[in-house]
Amino acid sequence: MKPREIRRGIYCVGAIDWDRRLFDSLIPLPDGTSYNSYLIKGSEKTALIDTVDPTTEQVLENHLNELEVKAIDYLVAHHAEQDHSGSIPRVLERYPKAKVICTPKCKGMLIDLLLIPEDRFITVEDKETISLGDRTLEFVHTPWVHWPETMVTYLKEERILFSCDFFGSHLATTDLYVTDEGQVYEAAKRYYAEIMMPFRTIIQKNLEKVKDYQIDIIAPSHGPMYDKPEFIIKAYHGWAFDEPKNIVVLPYVSMHGSTRKMVAYFVEALAQRGVTVKQFDLTVTDLGKLAIALVDAATVVIGTPTVLAGPHPNAVYAAFLANAIRPNLKFASIIGSYGWGGKTVEQLAAMIPNLKVEILQPVLVKGYPREADFKALDSLAETIAQKHKEHGFA
Ligand code: FEO
Repeated sequence: MKPREIRRGIYCVGAIDWDRRLFDSLIPLPDGTSYNSYLIKGSEKTALIDTVDPTTEQVLENHLNELEVKAIDYLVAHHAEQDHSGSIPRVLERYPKAKVICTPKCKGMLIDLLLIPEDRFITVEDKETISLGDRTLEFVHTPWVHWPETMVTYLKEERILFSCDFFGSHLATTDLYVTDEGQVYEAAKRYYAEIMMPFRTIIQKNLEKVKDYQIDIIAPSHGPMYDKPEFIIKAYHGWAFDEPKNIVVLPYVSMHGSTRKMVAYFVEALAQRGVTVKQFDLTVTDLGKLAIALVDAATVVIGTPTVLAGPHPNAVYAAFLANAIRPNLKFASIIGSYGWGGKTVEQLAAMIPNLKVEILQPVLVKGYPREADFKALDSLAETIAQKHKEHGFA
């Protein structure tokens, strides 16, 4: 893509990464991603907002060449993670007078991660401004969107909020702005679940903070821009503030069919009681889909056989991830089959200390499930349906 002008003298100069399929060697990217960088020309100074992943730094450089950018005065680094900061050293080399603008915490992290010399920095406090002449940048500290050092930038005259990871989506698209809201909603929710949800209460505070600004465009550093910002702000409000819904998420793994039989019965039992169930086979599921489902769920029930006296490793992985991303769950339980004994329940329960959940009576079955076991599953389904009703989860 060529650099594209958003407003007079303001350009998208980042890179689209169509083929990337994994982020942080962990997060699936079914739709690729982009590393958005923005050039803002003022009457006196020029600023570059974030850079790009180092694998695509030539794209950024080509864009700056095409625009014949002779000088960059300020390089705004919202976030020290390398998908935005990784090309800073190359830009600083090319523009020897450029200064990196960032929070004090970000400065330390950029020195640690990228060995940038100390004299290349200007640190900014919350709400501090810098003039580009006829344009003004206001820096707003928004910690934990995604790391502790993060901030966003408000371009006052054009009312554009440059938000970096905040409001972003891993989505490769030629569209400058959101055109397919359904597609972007899912991609942004996936992003929220994986990146923002662990810090939900701080995200709430940051949402309150940006509410004070009149925003015409949100320009994140991943995915398309929002020319109708209320779409993504409303979505974030729902994800961060709303009570959980009448949903059970059921990640499971089965070795010889006993646990699968229990899962099938249990899903039916919950559905008959009006509970929505989202079932995931952990041997094949996209973990991002599981993370999305956890955003709204009131209850998680893990289905696992007992292997070598404990839960199946796939169930361990799912429990570890759920514990790390801290969804707003209220209840949890475990169902599954064992051959002769083990510590499946104790081990799984000990793995989710971050989840402030009530553990409901697990259903562990010796061998293939029998009539009494199906009754126990009915009982667990009934308990969940009642608990959701009592809490008003709809
Ligand atoms: Fe897009 Fe946290 O980096």
